[in-house]
Amino acid sequence: MAEKTFVILKPETVKNRLIGEVISRIEKAGFKILAMKLIWASGEQAEKLYEVHKGKSFYSELISHITSGPIVPMIVEGEDAVNKMRMLIGATNPKEAKPGTIRGDLGISITMNIIHAADSPENFLRESKIFFGEKEVLSY
Ligand code: CMP
Repeated sequence: MAEKTFVILKPETVKNRLIGEVISRIEKAGFKILAMKLIWASGEQAEKLYEVHKGKSFYSELISHITSGPIVPMIVEGEDAVNKMRMLIGATNPKEAKPGTIRGDLGISITMNIIHAADSPENFLRESKIFFGEKEVLSY
């Protein structure tokens, strides 16, 4: 069933001019882009995005990293999108991500792991609302 998911291309992806490379992989995997923009996330957006990680040892690093430069949040659609996207991006830690996955091929470190993706349909809804208004999500 066609489903939507939410991803963010992280600051290292933008700085290292890998936006096109990562989007190309997402499109080649069959996803359709419904919303996309280049923004510098506010502290408030970052804290909402990563609220489940509050209190963890890496939380402050996570917030400072995601607000360290421009990012590209996107909403994409595809069959079984949440699961398929997580398979395409690979394990959280690039050292553990398989070759052929986005993080396995391009990831730098567990913090600089190139791309974030929602881990459930509920989190897709929650996370996408932090970055997009309803009118910004196109259907075509
Ligand atoms: P992301 O998919 O953006 O979701 C939460 C992020 O926290 C994750 O990618 C990693 O960048 C980061 N993260 C998860 N676990 C750790 C950890 N043990 N140490 C440092 N960063 C982590």
